[in-house]
Amino acid sequence: MIHIKEKLILDVNNLTTHYFTSKGEVKALDDASFQLEGGQSIGIAGESGCGKSTMAFSLLRMVQPPGRIVSGSIRVGGLEVTGLSEEEARKKLRWQKISMVFQGAMDIMTPVYSVGHQMMEPLRYLKDIKGDRAKDICFKYLDMVNIDYELFYRYPHELSGGQKQRIVIATALLLEPDVVILDEPTTALDVVVEARIMNDLKVLKKKLNNGMIFITHDLSILAEISDILAIMYAGWIVELGSALDIYKEPKHPYTQKLIAAIPRLHMDIDRLEYIPGAPPELTNPPKGCRFHPRCEQAFDRCSQEEPDEHDVDGVKVKCHLYDRSG
Ligand SMILES: Nc1ncnc2c1ncn2[C@@H]1O[C@H](COP(=O)(O)OP(=O)(O)OP(=O)(O)O)[C@@H](O)[C@H]1O
Ligand SMILES: [Mg+2]
Repeated sequence: MIHIKEKLILDVNNLTTHYFTSKGEVKALDDASFQLEGGQSIGIAGESGCGKSTMAFSLLRMVQPPGRIVSGSIRVGGLEVTGLSEEEARKKLRWQKISMVFQGAMDIMTPVYSVGHQMMEPLRYLKDIKGDRAKDICFKYLDMVNIDYELFYRYPHELSGGQKQRIVIATALLLEPDVVILDEPTTALDVVVEARIMNDLKVLKKKLNNGMIFITHDLSILAEISDILAIMYAGWIVELGSALDIYKEPKHPYTQKLIAAIPRLHMDIDRLEYIPGAPPELTNPPKGCRFHPRCEQAFDRCSQEEPDEHDVDGVKVKCHLYDRSG
C-alpha cells in the first residue's frame, strides 16, 4: 500500500486546556489554532507559565489531572487525537505520529543500560522490531544526527552532553513520526554545540519532511530555525505567522517587547528593553485583553473586550489595535 502523507500534518483548532485546581480553573491554554505542513517548523515562545508545555502535552494527549483538554481538535498525520483512549494514544499516537524530546531529556537516560538498549526500546515495544533490524534502524538515525554508530554500544556516562542530546533526538525520530516536539532542546549545552545541533535539525526537517515544534525562551534561536512563530501570552496565541515577518516587524505590542528584549551584538546594554510587571494568575486573568495591564499601547476597549484575531499582512494578531471594522 502506498502511503500518501496529507499535506497538513498537524491541524490544531480552538484547542483549550485547563487545570481544575482547588484554587480555581487555571486557563492555561485558550482557543489555540495553528497548522503545520510537512517540512515546516513552528517555534513557540513566551514567558514562563504562558502555556507552552500545556500545548505540547495536549498534542501528545499527556495532560495530567487536574488538567484536561476542554474543547477543540487536534489532527496529527490524519489521526484525531482528542477522542483517543489512553491505550489508543499509547499504541497509535505517541512515538509513531508525534514524539517529544523533553526538557532535560538527556539527563534522564538510564545509566545502567547501553545507548543501544535504550534506543531500541520503542521499536521493540511498539513495533516488535528486534535484533539486527532494530539495530539497523538505530544506526540510520544515529547517522542522521551525525553520531558515530560506535556510540550505540556505549553507556550514557561515557558521552558528552551534546552527544546525549543528539541520541535523544535520534530516538524521537525512530518510528518516523509526522511531528516531533522539542522542548528547550539545547539550552543545557554550550552555544557552539547548540548552534551545530540547531543547524542539523534544520537540515533533518527538510530531509524527513516532517513537522517540528520548537519550544524555547530564546527567541533569537527560534527566528533562526522556525518557519512559523507562535507568540504566546497568558494562555493565548497572540501572534502567529511567518517567523521572518514577525521577527522583522512584530505587530502585537507583546511581541514587540519580547523582540526588543533580545540582546544584540554591538548594542548599548542600556537600550535593552524589558517588560514591566508580571504575567497574570491564570485562574483569574484580566478582563478584556490579558496583556492590557502591561501594555503601553492599551486603550479603553482593551480592558473591556477580548480582542479578535486580525489578519495583518498574512500574520494573525490578537489585538484591538488592528481592528479595522470601525
Ligand atoms: N498540573 C498543574 N496544575 C495546575 N496548574 C498548572 C499545572 N501545570 C501547569 N499549570 C499552570 O498552567 C499555566 C501554564 O503552564 P505551562 O507549564 O504550560 O507553562 P510554560 O509556558 O511551559 O512555562 P515554562 O516556560 O516555565 O516551562 C501556568 O499558569 C501553570 O501554573
Ligand atoms: Mg514548560
